[in-house]
Amino acid sequence: MSAAPFSTEVIATSPYTDQKPGTSGLRKKVRVFMQDNYTENFVQAIFTAMPAPGPKDSVVVVGGDGRYYMKHVIQKIIKIGLANGVKKFIVGQDGILSTPAASNIIRKAQANGGILLTASHNPGGIDNDFGIKYNTSNGGPAPESVTDSIFEASKVISEYKITDIPDIDFNKIGSVHFGDHTIEIIDSISDYLDMVKEIFDFNLIKSFLKAHPDFTLLFDGLNGVTGGYGRRIFIEELGLPLSSIDQCVPMEDFGGEHPDPNLTYAHKLVKNVNEKKIDFGAASDGDGDRNMIISNDWFVNPSDSVAVIADYAKHAIPYFKKTGIRGLARSMPTSASIDRVAEYHKVKVYEVPTGWKFFGNLMDAGQLSICGEESFGTGSDHVREKDGLWAVIAWLNILAYVNSNSQSFISIKDIMETHYDKYGRNFFSRYDYEEVDSNGANKMYSDLKAKCYGGLVGTSFLNGAFTVISAEDFEYTDPIDHSVSKNQGLRIIFSDGSRIIVRLSGTGSSGATVRFYFEMFENRTEKLMIDTQVALKPLIEIALEISKLKEYTGRDEPTVIT
Ligand code: G6P
Ligand code: ZN
Repeated sequence: MSAAPFSTEVIATSPYTDQKPGTSGLRKKVRVFMQDNYTENFVQAIFTAMPAPGPKDSVVVVGGDGRYYMKHVIQKIIKIGLANGVKKFIVGQDGILSTPAASNIIRKAQANGGILLTASHNPGGIDNDFGIKYNTSNGGPAPESVTDSIFEASKVISEYKITDIPDIDFNKIGSVHFGDHTIEIIDSISDYLDMVKEIFDFNLIKSFLKAHPDFTLLFDGLNGVTGGYGRRIFIEELGLPLSSIDQCVPMEDFGGEHPDPNLTYAHKLVKNVNEKKIDFGAASDGDGDRNMIISNDWFVNPSDSVAVIADYAKHAIPYFKKTGIRGLARSMPTSASIDRVAEYHKVKVYEVPTGWKFFGNLMDAGQLSICGEESFGTGSDHVREKDGLWAVIAWLNILAYVNSNSQSFISIKDIMETHYDKYGRNFFSRYDYEEVDSNGANKMYSDLKAKCYGGLVGTSFLNGAFTVISAEDFEYTDPIDHSVSKNQGLRIIFSDGSRIIVRLSGTGSSGATVRFYFEMFENRTEKLMIDTQVALKPLIEIALEISKLKEYTGRDEPTVIT
């Protein structure tokens, strides 16, 4: 279909002062985005600040997690983008693109960038969250230099440009042309499906499923964006029964739930897996970049998950058979489980601050293949976002691989037990104290920081069982561009290698969230499979004692324990 080129209007506006995007973009309540010109201003600021050569003649990918207000905003992005000279928009059908799928399309289409409409795992609906995030041509979240320019542009905006084209029907796959400008509506899933089929051994997985007809899998989309992807992969591609997927129809409000794959918020999956004795349970978050892997008798801690994937990758997963393992990485609070795998395989492991963006430079430089974060993020250099379904299929591929030479069924728990036998176990747990009064949280943090630099080193706890050997606010120098990131979390290390990390969350939407991370290494056979909370009890006591959390925040119990 062809239509006459559009006419462009220039609309006067005035700036908002609060449009500073974080690495996850600009994330606010829907009603904030609904204010007069609020969305238009920010979208114009993105195009104004778009890295060279700028929006003129550019190709831009657009899609999101299906949450409330997304479609309305996509229409605006297209109209404002065309007025700014964008040559081609590539949009997911119905506006749907998971975050890793969008990253893949940006790379595959060699687009100049992408605009992702998501607030990740935050609840959706008119009274909840919305987000607009800009990704650059490598498919990854915009670096701070770009988000700073967007913020600067938003602070001085006096007008935005918009075309008068009619609303686009995002349901219809195909292209709409306005003069030599194109809006291409693509199947949201097929490029992603092609990609994972290239990466993983689907034939091996299919033979495994055939050889184990009693094996049960349950993927819970948490009513988020991965629903359609899960259906295509597990049902249509791998031929599993329909009962293998749950909550796989994306909903604008995620069914009123918190679409975050952890033991607290993915409670329905946890219940189903326990009640139905499911062998393999998995979930992904609202926008599809996080993952959780469980079974009826085990919870795979994300820090262990990435270590296991890294350990098997070269043998079990075709993509890594081809590329080899160029390097491994984890965020600072993530346990050192993967460090042991790196040592064994003689590859380098990087410790970066919390945030997926810190992996991007290493991947672009060809120095990093597989990485993960304790915050349920796992992925590799196949895209520049973490990738929930990638992790789920990786586990399925590994399960198929270990079972291909085995008489009896090897379960997820067996894989973990073998892993701990070989490498020892880094017990790990995270305590979250959500919606804490910000003043109390900040005071607790700054006083603990003062202690770290004021004599904590050398102090012993629990009758000399734990002695602090280092205590500092983590600082990172990027090995590629040498940029320095300071104040990335308090890291207290003990003489036996145990660690306590304390951070204030950068993603909460009301009050402060305090996170405590506990880690302790164990290699005595008889202790390897004990309960995590039991193993970590002494460290937890020490952390609460030094931080005086209760005094500062009034909190006794964490909101979420992972
Ligand atoms: C987002 C980022 C992750 C990061 C997490 C940290 O999900 O994509 O890379 O690990 O935020 O969140 P926090 O609330 O701990 O700052
Ligand atoms: Zn997410």
